Amino acid sequence: MPQKDGLRPDNFEYLVSYHLPSISYMSVPAKMRAVSIHEFGGPEKLEFIDWPTPQIGESEVLIRVRATALNRADLLQRMGKYPPPPGASPIPGLEVAGEIVAIGKKVINWDIGARVCTLLAGGGYAQYINIHGDMAMSIPAEMNYEEAAAIPEVFLTAFQAIHWLADLQAGEKILIHAGASGVGTAAIQLAKMIGAKVIVTASAAKHTLCDYLGADLMIDYKKDNFEAVIAAFTEKQGVDVIIDFIGAPYFQANLNSLAMEGRLVQLAFMGGVNPSDVNIAPLLRNRLKLMGSTLRARNLEYKIRLIQDFQKHYWHHFSTGNLKAIIDSVYNWESVAEAHRYMESNQNQGKIVLMVD
Ligand SMILES: NC(=O)c1ccc[n+]([C@@H]2O[C@H](COP(=O)([O-])OP(=O)(O)OC[C@H]3O[C@@H](n4cnc5c(N)ncnc54)[C@H](OP(=O)(O)O)[C@@H]3O)[C@@H](O)[C@H]2O)c1
Repeated sequence: MPQKDGLRPDNFEYLVSYHLPSISYMSVPAKMRAVSIHEFGGPEKLEFIDWPTPQIGESEVLIRVRATALNRADLLQRMGKYPPPPGASPIPGLEVAGEIVAIGKKVINWDIGARVCTLLAGGGYAQYINIHGDMAMSIPAEMNYEEAAAIPEVFLTAFQAIHWLADLQAGEKILIHAGASGVGTAAIQLAKMIGAKVIVTASAAKHTLCDYLGADLMIDYKKDNFEAVIAAFTEKQGVDVIIDFIGAPYFQANLNSLAMEGRLVQLAFMGGVNPSDVNIAPLLRNRLKLMGSTLRARNLEYKIRLIQDFQKHYWHHFSTGNLKAIIDSVYNWESVAEAHRYMESNQNQGKIVLMVD
């Protein structure tokens, strides 16, 4: 989109109003409301504070946040177990959707008022956030803010794991653990689009959603041994790719469930980090690849490449309805503590969104 000369503030001052063609005036206050972790602990430690509205650099845009979404990382950060990476905002929140209200001098591809969503290293639980202009993804006209806020973290994580790391191919079999999680629901959709056969583990109550998204086999891991089910389903050949968030308790069964040249992508350790008495023979016997990854701490250049590659291959599928943001629930951000409690209870299927006033 062409830059509209005259709309961009030459000297970015807060408490200044910018003239907009259709919205008339939009003001950016010097202070904004944000959710802060004033002390590590439970959801009750989340509190609203007044915080300086971020300044933008020459290559950045300022977003008026309309919606953000919860991630497990927010819960860990609140408990003091996942500090923000150096340079990131101490305010939690890894993704937002909203509109652009200010544009840095070097940004040429955005207009004031553009509806965008993005991935963040922090700072999403706030009324405003600054991001590099190339990190913004344009929200399709038919998509609302709550849907747009539910996309960046889980779809980019799933895209990175499935394409960049595991290089999943059509006709291959993939096992996605926690299939009804936010990342799991995105991973099922991407894997089905590639043309893979998708197997998931999830609580029984969440199988209907996984089935709706196209999973070919759902395993109730609380009742059935997933290793045995996979062996039977694949006639002892195993799966080509596993996306795992559980860690220690699944490690041996994951190794045993991989086919020749199989790839395991480890994205989290919700069940622990210390597997005991592991037989690593399958690693050599089946020439396996083990990979681990994070997204939050990646540098800006990596995130921009990831966003651009994802947009190129998948963004249009959100407009056609072939890809969907899977939303479990939507809270007003005043109820952020309640939303955290809900995620901790493991009941959600897909994303928990917070609408930001
Ligand atoms: N490395 C990265 O780049 C990256 C990026 C984003 C997210 N992540 C991680 O990916 C994981 C999923 O994130 P999310 O936001 O999609 O989570 P989510 O929507 O909150 O879903 C998590 C689900 O995992 C299942 N689960 C939890 N603990 C479990 C356990 N001990 N054993 C088996 N299943 C368990 C539960 O579903 P059931 O009822 O089916 O058990 C739970 O609802 C999180 O750990 C998150 O931190 C990593």
